[in-house]
Amino acid sequence: MCGIVGYVGNQNAVPILMEGLARLEYRGYDSAGIAVLSPQGTQAYRRVGRVRDLEASLPRRLTGKVGIGHTRWATHGQVTEANAHPQASGDGRVRVVHNGIIDNAMDLRDALLATGSTFSSETDSEVVAHLIARSDSATLEAAVLDALAQVTGTYAIAVTDELHPDRIVVARNGSPLILGVGDRAMFIASDLAALVRHTTSVVHLDDGELATVTASGFRTFSRDEENTAKTPTSVDLTTSDVDLGEHQHFMRKEIFEQPESIERMLRGRLDERFGTARLDGLNLGPRDLRAFRRVKILGCGSAYYVGQIGALMIEELARVPADAEPASEFRYRNPVIEPDTLYVAVSQSGETADTAFAVREIKRKGGQVVGLINVVGSTIARDCDGGIYLHAGPEVAVASTKALTHMAIGFAMLALALGRVRDLSITDGQRLVAGLLGVPGKIKEILADEPHIAELAADLARARSLFFIGRVRGFPVAREGAQKFKEVSYRHAEAYQASELKHGPLALIDAGLPTVAIVPDDELTDRNVAAIKQIVARNGPLVVITHSSVADAEPNLRRITVPKSEPELDPILLTVPLQLLAYHAARTLGHDIDKPRNLAKSVTVE
Ligand code: F6R
Repeated sequence: MCGIVGYVGNQNAVPILMEGLARLEYRGYDSAGIAVLSPQGTQAYRRVGRVRDLEASLPRRLTGKVGIGHTRWATHGQVTEANAHPQASGDGRVRVVHNGIIDNAMDLRDALLATGSTFSSETDSEVVAHLIARSDSATLEAAVLDALAQVTGTYAIAVTDELHPDRIVVARNGSPLILGVGDRAMFIASDLAALVRHTTSVVHLDDGELATVTASGFRTFSRDEENTAKTPTSVDLTTSDVDLGEHQHFMRKEIFEQPESIERMLRGRLDERFGTARLDGLNLGPRDLRAFRRVKILGCGSAYYVGQIGALMIEELARVPADAEPASEFRYRNPVIEPDTLYVAVSQSGETADTAFAVREIKRKGGQVVGLINVVGSTIARDCDGGIYLHAGPEVAVASTKALTHMAIGFAMLALALGRVRDLSITDGQRLVAGLLGVPGKIKEILADEPHIAELAADLARARSLFFIGRVRGFPVAREGAQKFKEVSYRHAEAYQASELKHGPLALIDAGLPTVAIVPDDELTDRNVAAIKQIVARNGPLVVITHSSVADAEPNLRRITVPKSEPELDPILLTVPLQLLAYHAARTLGHDIDKPRNLAKSVTVE
């Protein structure tokens, strides 16, 4: 999704903006642009395509100490240079970069056209630049407020004005925006990744808040022009977190980071003596945890599939009815919100619009929501009543991997905490704590099998269509496996409950349709083996993800063997080879693995 960067200071803004834009590339975009203020006025450059195309088009001597930049993911209007940001007022004096959607843009545009404005783009964002330029307020801050008073919708904007060349004014409503505090410099970004090279001291703006940034600092204020008190906080991030290092792709880097990042996530959160999890961030005591009669998990895409894994863990370990629902559906029905239900929002970015709206709807109706969120200080994290930070570190590849494993572990800990105030025995609790502590080492074992998994992936990549099957604990694993495979390989990959095969999908099985089957060693192994035999009987190629204790169901079956864990935790480990399978299939096919076509990292608009 769109990205914003900005800089005010004593250095040349151009390389800083370009580096920031490159750091935002992972979010997905189709065009990019920058505008810098210099004594000669505003100089702006925009290009369809990659940030490197924009960079190549810049004049060598372009300089300016104040500037804004943008990566655009088209919503209003085609992918053209004219629609790329920064957008300008008619006279070019005011420049605006905008993330989000202005809902009443058409009405505002008609009104501006009727009074003599001419437009050079099809974007909703251009109206904001016109409205600001038309304001007769003396300060840029007041002009921005005048404009925003007429606008409805979601936005993060950054504005420059030739009449006020020492500053950038920014505003936030529903789209993230962060200020970075530097040494006689200020930075602006929609995402921490763009700031990390320059500062770790940041200010998260709230919805309805604005800020002025100059080389000497910042001032935040409300829509009533009242100053708001904001103290910078320090973020725990280094450039190596967002650099590729020895890896060719971020997706592989993030898959291989899991043993270490999970160890970090578990540190201090497990109680081996009492066999439970310490989750202080939930802000819920044992009595509160005991009072919940139901758990409802909300997330989108892969986060929803991990939510299904979480719901099963909670039902198994805590015996509390639990289910997961796509937040994108939940927000559009009229959900019954119950006071004794624990709502759990799960999101890597913490900015997914559908999940954020679902959280607000629950809170509006008086429900209690906690978050399993990766990005600290993100919108959803701040809207929730409490939560478990995932501590996976920045995830740059569009296809989510490590954050999902961290979500599954977060759910295991939540299930433990809910179980141990109910009927889960101390010995079972201790068994699960030991199981969780063993996860990082076992993931290392799976990662060591990469060459074998890569070979299987190269073969699967030749098929146009694939099935992923699993049963009960294995089914959400299969769904996530299919999701990952289709996202990066662009192959049709569909997940089914293994139990449902004979009720229809079996009709499609033949030598041209491979199946990836999830067959853990558990109480359902025999049933899964029966499903495999049905596939083999119809010449369907198979790759089985299983435990070494599961005997070969058929001679010559291609297997990926995963170390055994506690049965309730099996989904965590079974997911890892599926990440590598998707990665290597995409690599075989030569795709842009970290930025799959049509997809964005955080989906902050409808
Ligand atoms: C899958 C994927 C998406 C996200 C979904 C939710 O690889 O990346 O399906 O899981 O868009 O995103 P977050 O977790 O940021 O809310």
